[in-house]
Amino acid sequence: MNTSHQKICIALDVDHANQAFELIDLLKPHVGLFKVGMQLFYRYGPNLVHEMVSKGIKIFLDLKFHDIPNTVRNASIAAVRMKVAMFNVHAGGGLSMMQQAVNGANEIAQKEGLPLPQILGVTILTSLTQEMLSNELNCPGSLESRVVSLAQLSKTAGLDGVVASPLELAWIRSTCGADFTIVTPGIRPLWSVTNDQKRIMSPSAAIEKGVNFIVVGRPVIQADDPVLAVTRLFKNSL
Ligand code: C5P
Repeated sequence: MNTSHQKICIALDVDHANQAFELIDLLKPHVGLFKVGMQLFYRYGPNLVHEMVSKGIKIFLDLKFHDIPNTVRNASIAAVRMKVAMFNVHAGGGLSMMQQAVNGANEIAQKEGLPLPQILGVTILTSLTQEMLSNELNCPGSLESRVVSLAQLSKTAGLDGVVASPLELAWIRSTCGADFTIVTPGIRPLWSVTNDQKRIMSPSAAIEKGVNFIVVGRPVIQADDPVLAVTRLFKNSL
């Protein structure tokens, strides 16, 4: 597998565990990581994640923890026990919440001899626009400055990186440094539809700009031929 394909994370946004395992079997030779989000997790729980991990699959657990610091700390401990490669918390939960996620994860990993996952902060969802931020959520300032300050806060809290739109990549890289992990959803090949994603970029442009992982869901998992779709991701035409 080439290095660009190792940076692909497939969002397993499906209803049934058997659909997820079918996608894993098909796509495992072509991608580096699979993402389990709320849709699958709230139906099947940690056992499903254990089963995937025991098959040697690297999992990004995308549950976007956002609660009081103590609750997020305990949720982070549970995530480490699932032996996932990566999980995330909302950076908007604040410094103390993120620090507790890091502390809880470090302590349990050390105590129980478990692998330490990367912990990422979710900045601003890629489905939100400047207009929504200003008019619906009543947040002052530009979306970009908000993303960058949430990324800085994530770094200060000791997180390994952030989830952000590919459009914000350059600002985050220049403020948070070369070894800060940047994972970007909102990835759309030029041949696919955008769905509800607003701040998007093509897979090849995101990789060229230095993203560590691109998250791709519907353009691949809803394709008639997911293997063909994944092998075409970096092609800008049909
Ligand atoms: O189907 P699509 O490629 O839009 O899937 C993107 C995936 O990334 C979804 O599972 C979504 O929950 C997730 N995600 C996102 N924006 C974030 C964080 C996660 O789209 N900021």
